[in-house]
Amino acid sequence: MNFNSGMLREDALKDKNILITGGGTGLGRSMGEYFLELGANLVITSRKLDVLEGTANEMMSQKGGKVIPLACDVRDIAQVEDMWSQATSQLGKVDVVLNNAAGNFISPTERLSTNAFNTVLDIVLKGTSQVTLTAGKDWIAKKQAGVFLNIVTTYAWTGSGYVVPSAAAKAGVLAMTRSLAVEWAKYGIRSNAIAPGPFPTEGAWSRLLPGDLVKKFDPAKKVPVGRVGEHQELANLAAYLVSDFSAYVNGEVITIDGGEWLKGAGEFNNLDQIPQELWDMMEASRGKKQ
Ligand code: COA
Repeated sequence: MNFNSGMLREDALKDKNILITGGGTGLGRSMGEYFLELGANLVITSRKLDVLEGTANEMMSQKGGKVIPLACDVRDIAQVEDMWSQATSQLGKVDVVLNNAAGNFISPTERLSTNAFNTVLDIVLKGTSQVTLTAGKDWIAKKQAGVFLNIVTTYAWTGSGYVVPSAAAKAGVLAMTRSLAVEWAKYGIRSNAIAPGPFPTEGAWSRLLPGDLVKKFDPAKKVPVGRVGEHQELANLAAYLVSDFSAYVNGEVITIDGGEWLKGAGEFNNLDQIPQELWDMMEASRGKKQ
């Protein structure tokens, strides 16, 4: 047994229809592949239909099941509504929405144009709220249960320089997750979030930390457990949170980051850079050393 293997039993998501925004690549794709293994059918969306179609064919040939690719820019409500009506008419119903699509620019905030700032807000906050409202209204009207799982980030509550629009938008998504967990529970709709730490993906890492930057700011160095995350670890958590096994988990955000954000938060945590000899010297100077 290791942390890189699938965790749930084979039929854990049998007959669940799961919509994943941003499902064609990266973490969205990895979570989708595991959902398929557990018996789900998928709808994957992004702006790029050709990428989605390639992913859908590969996924179906490798994992079986049904994967429906639908082009949708989550910023555009007409596209969201059209995507939802196609998804529900092709699958009969959608049981789970995984709000995973995101956009982010690493930049000093004063260098961002208004349009750049708004672009990230629009994808992350407006995109998530539009998909959520579209799905939620339909579930409520049809008296159908549903599950939302929203991908946020630990800087949704700490804030972070250099990714300010993303931090502001993800904070909004987290507030929406907790708010709807309470308001819509009476309709049988659960809402939870995952805050992943560093999980390498080709797309986000090469865009966010281009060239040598990834070596200079090696994300593994900031993680107390000493490594970055494996996609299967995230997929295991996501599968649990969208499955019926988590029926009593509602309004929660689960951090999966090896302790990364807390390391940055603790006032004295950087003292792990002090060598043992210096601790020895300090102990000796207290006169306690044997
Ligand atoms: N840093 C700062 N500003 C940037 C930028 C960057 N790296 N890239 C684009 N912008 C600015 C553009 O200059 C533009 O502003 P302007 O009109 O004032 O010049 C604005 O952002 C919108 O850019 P545009 O390229 O028109 O946006 P788009 O809508 O075509 O695409 C994304 C925006 C975010 C969808 C696109 O960059 C993308 O696909 N990113 C990858 C997805 C991603 O970031 N995932 C996040 C993983 S955490």
